[in-house]
Amino acid sequence: MILLTGSTGFIGARVLRVLAEKNLEVRCLVRKRASQEKPNITYMTGDVLDYDSLVRATEGIDTVYYFIHMMGNQPRGEQKRFDTLDRLAINNMVKACKLNGVKRIIHLTGMRNPYEKLSQHLESRKEVEEIIKNSGIGYTIFRASVIIGRGGAAFEILDTAVRKFPIIPVLNWENTKVQPIYIDDVIRYLVECLDRKETLNRCFDIGSSKIFTYKELMQQYAEELGLKRRFISIPGSWNRLSAAVLGKFAPVNPNVVYWLVESLQNNMVCEPNDLKKIFGFEPISFKESIRKIGIVNK
Ligand SMILES: NC(=O)c1ccc[n+]([C@@H]2O[C@H](COP(=O)([O-])OP(=O)(O)OC[C@H]3O[C@@H](n4cnc5c(N)ncnc54)[C@H](OP(=O)(O)O)[C@@H]3O)[C@@H](O)[C@H]2O)c1
Repeated sequence: MILLTGSTGFIGARVLRVLAEKNLEVRCLVRKRASQEKPNITYMTGDVLDYDSLVRATEGIDTVYYFIHMMGNQPRGEQKRFDTLDRLAINNMVKACKLNGVKRIIHLTGMRNPYEKLSQHLESRKEVEEIIKNSGIGYTIFRASVIIGRGGAAFEILDTAVRKFPIIPVLNWENTKVQPIYIDDVIRYLVECLDRKETLNRCFDIGSSKIFTYKELMQQYAEELGLKRRFISIPGSWNRLSAAVLGKFAPVNPNVVYWLVESLQNNMVCEPNDLKKIFGFEPISFKESIRKIGIVNK
């Protein structure tokens, strides 16, 4: 049986849909009970910050999908910072998994360059990944940069920046490199790895083949939308100001916007791997992704 965390989120909800289509038995851990149970899909209320609820949730489970981040929490002092909460949450999960003999944790995290100083968001993502890898429990970890799909925080920020602003200030992230990936390709990796033993105890960077700078990404997106946009280079990072402006317009929690904007300084380019050999497909291009999600200018 599978335990799915984050089933109300951007990634988890889509993974749930595919697992349900495959008739796999899934228990969803949710903070608020809302969804109707279906054959093979059950819901258990709990919280990753509450260890006892995780002990109950992991009982009889072979595989845990861990799709949680705490960036949306309002930082109120050191004890409530998202990285502190994320550390507590994953330690709770690992401890509960060990107690109940869970065999594998499948996790999606942020891509990073191991030689760069990381933003707070990526440093925290790395810490969660390390805790899973060092837990002694089997794992499969995928690392993505910008995921192209409606409801994805990074995509919605990109969409807002390009649609709302005819003149786009390009800050110190002008040349940061990124390798976006289409949401359905991410979900394929996350679900199909269940049947691919070669993915056990491995981490994979996932992205489509083309590397963009953030400026190129916005230029191509504007072109696809049929929008004329001017880009003006401005020295400095202006993280707080950019996050405040984007947070007002983007349909994304403003705290998440801030931490993602802070991460724009970090390159997200895939390390080579054997994913194509293991999965037999390659992610579609950025252009195709945009067309698939049916983005039209409105
Ligand atoms: N979105 C992207 O572009 C992207 C890119 C790279 C990597 N990732 C990774 O993908 C994973 C999932 O991200 P996402 O985009 O799906 O995030 P999301 O849409 O914000 O969903 C987060 C999920 O976590 C749940 N959650 C938060 N705090 C919880 C708690 N204390 N106890 C139980 N559940 C809790 C939320 O449930 P509630 O409904 O109860 O709030 C929600 O279902 C993360 O590890 C993220 O780093 C995402």
